[in-house]
Amino acid sequence: MRIVLAPMEGLADVHLRRLLTAQGGFDWVVCEFLRVVDRVYPRRVFFTACPELENGGRTACGTPVRMQLLGSDASAMAANAWLAVELGSHGIDINFGCPSKTVNRRNGGASMLKDPESLYRVIDSVRRAVPKDVTVSAKMRLGYDDTTLMLENAHAIEAGGADELTVHARTRQQGYAPPAHWHELANIRQAISIPLIANGDIWTVADYHACVALSGTPDVMLGRGAVRCPDLAHRIRQRELAETQWQLVHKLLLDFWFDIRTVMPEKDSVGRLKQWLNHLRKVHPDAEALWQTIRTEKQSRELDRLITQYQH
Ligand SMILES: Cc1cc2nc3c(=O)[nH]c(=O)nc-3n(C[C@H](O)[C@H](O)[C@H](O)COP(=O)(O)O)c2cc1C
Repeated sequence: MRIVLAPMEGLADVHLRRLLTAQGGFDWVVCEFLRVVDRVYPRRVFFTACPELENGGRTACGTPVRMQLLGSDASAMAANAWLAVELGSHGIDINFGCPSKTVNRRNGGASMLKDPESLYRVIDSVRRAVPKDVTVSAKMRLGYDDTTLMLENAHAIEAGGADELTVHARTRQQGYAPPAHWHELANIRQAISIPLIANGDIWTVADYHACVALSGTPDVMLGRGAVRCPDLAHRIRQRELAETQWQLVHKLLLDFWFDIRTVMPEKDSVGRLKQWLNHLRKVHPDAEALWQTIRTEKQSRELDRLITQYQH
């Protein structure tokens, strides 16, 4: 069983990655994507996208971080991949799943799923650019509008030389609408010989087992489920069915807040705090109550007081 923390642009930033990986259970984490157009970025861009490079490419608790690149220019992708590895990234993940209209208009992310050959070119080029022992992985959806090219896309990624494939079990068209179609993953798993990592709507330990039963793969990537229940990966490993305790969540929220409020402008840190709390309140009644208490508050000082006092 391998459990990966999903890339989540603007949500799972370096601060949240630190906290979530510290709860245990994650084998590695994929960081937010770096969008490659037609040139190699200067080093500082890599360090901004993935501050963990300053720490040997690991989060504070030692979990390896894999940089994610997005783009369709094969040679630019290869050059940036080479530099990312040179700077300490533990492997390279290529994003073929991003649904953003801006990104798709420029033929990046999920729009590439309409053309399996384009996936092959990028993977092949990146594979050749980085040392053989460095993992090259890809992340895709089931398709763009539908699943017609699903197996062809998976084959193209394998043929290009990828070591692993993560699939978010929805098409681009399906966005984030539930349910995730885990049964489709079984078809992909049978069609390829590289490991398949299942992704999409694993919110609980029971979901993990249901996903494994339908997809046939023990390996999963957790995104929003881990954001809402920070110890989910740990509980999956322990087969621990008890729910995440609010005491833990509250402690982590305090840690997160006092971390970000010192490094971000007030408006940004308040926004990030509310963004996480907005996810947490979907499963924790206490988070909902705290949300109601602080939702209109904009001052850090007052938030310090309200969050610290709020224990139950
Ligand atoms: C806020 C947000 C940002 C995301 N950013 C990325 C990204 O940068 N790269 C990527 O491959 N997927 C991204 N995703 C998709 C997730 O990695 C994952 O595939 C999706 O959320 C489904 O998994 P989940 O149901 O476990 O959250 C993002 C998802 C969310 C909610």
